[in-house]
Amino acid sequence: MVKSKVKFFNDSSNEDDKNQSFYIDKIVNYLQNKYRHKDMPLAYIHTFGCQQNVNDGEKIKGMIALMGYGFTDSAENADFVLFNTCAVRENAEDRVFGNIGALKRYKTANRNMIIAVCGCMTQQKHIQEKIKKTYHHVNIVFGTHSLHKLPEIIYQAINTDKRIFDVESEESEIIESIPIVRQSKIKAWVPISYGCDHFCTYCVVPYVRGKEKSRTPENILDEIRGIVSTGVKEIGLLGQNVNSYGKGVSPKINFSELLKRVNDIEGDFRIRFMSPHPKDANEDMFDTIANCEKVCNSIHLPFQSGNDKILKKMNRKYTADEYLNLVNYGKKIIPNITFTTDIIVGFPGETYEKFLDTIKILKQVKFASVYSFIYSKRIGTPAEKMEDLIPKKEKSDWLREMLRYQEDITLDLNKSFVGKTVNVLVDEIGKQQDGFISGRCDENILVEFPGAKSLIGNFVKVEIKDYMKCVLIGKKID
Ligand code: 5AD
Ligand code: SF4
Repeated sequence: MVKSKVKFFNDSSNEDDKNQSFYIDKIVNYLQNKYRHKDMPLAYIHTFGCQQNVNDGEKIKGMIALMGYGFTDSAENADFVLFNTCAVRENAEDRVFGNIGALKRYKTANRNMIIAVCGCMTQQKHIQEKIKKTYHHVNIVFGTHSLHKLPEIIYQAINTDKRIFDVESEESEIIESIPIVRQSKIKAWVPISYGCDHFCTYCVVPYVRGKEKSRTPENILDEIRGIVSTGVKEIGLLGQNVNSYGKGVSPKINFSELLKRVNDIEGDFRIRFMSPHPKDANEDMFDTIANCEKVCNSIHLPFQSGNDKILKKMNRKYTADEYLNLVNYGKKIIPNITFTTDIIVGFPGETYEKFLDTIKILKQVKFASVYSFIYSKRIGTPAEKMEDLIPKKEKSDWLREMLRYQEDITLDLNKSFVGKTVNVLVDEIGKQQDGFISGRCDENILVEFPGAKSLIGNFVKVEIKDYMKCVLIGKKID
């Protein structure tokens, strides 16, 4: 753990950050000259992976917009293409390489195209090497700790024929106030901490995102006040492990205290957070949720495996019983609480019998939904060296078996909502029938009901009349 130091993107007293605004101005001039008689240059930004990456992608867009680029949904038409990558599983990495490969013919047609790759993948040495050797059409590679230097990096790229590789091994400071273009006007994610100190044996995140660092409550609360004042109705607090929030922050503060302070912000909005770690989640967290009217009664609590031996090998530091006790406490004190989770199937050493312990947890908790993954070996993690004897095909069968159980559980849970009234934040047009609108209720289940488009962006009370596998159907209460 490091003590959090903070720098501001536009703090002109700071040598480094003065430079970022300086480089943005330089790029604006350069693009204005280069594209003088043409349409404005376009950028295609594609983000893979988790909410943290999505948030980084929004900051990348914020900086790119200030440079004078417009945005396009097609890489083919773009002058600047950026892939913001994920390294959590191998298939995510394969997809990125497929996408980078496909850019080659666009670049042949448009020699001026600048191609950048950043994010968790590029933080790994073997990936940097592979891009260096095999993907010569990539101009820029930068890592998770260099994000705020994007203007400087692009400026270097447009002024040289050389390829730029800017991957720092660690960033000691949190950079505040990076410009941002948010994806949604209704929901916003706000990081409360970066990095992870937990070192679960399968996970690459601590190696690519660095040590855990918490933002100060003042910076978090200021950002949320600003977002809420623009009419955003849902704030998601984001961190690899939200309930170890506060490390290195002075005066001392923990996650429950932060939740209370966010809850005290005036305005019509609700609060979610992702993800708590079961080893640090406690009764106090559930008591706080119960007492904070804006905090939703739905918790994403990854359990990964239901077998104690596997949990130990994963370095998760809780047992299946401890997990269940937590869930049961939450169910006791928070009405209608729902849980979602992450599960890894086929971790080294898992047998079919051990896998059945995971199904036992599914049946006892009755999750609203699960995010399940076949174990993927990650270079440099302790699990990379563990003997892994079960063939991929067998692991896929286990995963399918698990999803069949979960389908029935979801259906049962959805059925239990019939007759209840839920609070829905409407965020788009529905898909079930013409004239339907949709959104998620506080319990984080998708709800559709007949209603006017003008309700998008508002909370609506809906009585649930029917249910399907993935959606509740209701009627607006007048
Ligand atoms: N293989 C499969 N799933 C993984 N996850 C993290 N690392 C791996 C891996 N090596 C899953 C975990 C985590 C989620 C974000 O991704 O379930 O909670
Ligand atoms: Fe990975 Fe574990 Fe950290 Fe989550 S808590 S990011 S699974 S090491």
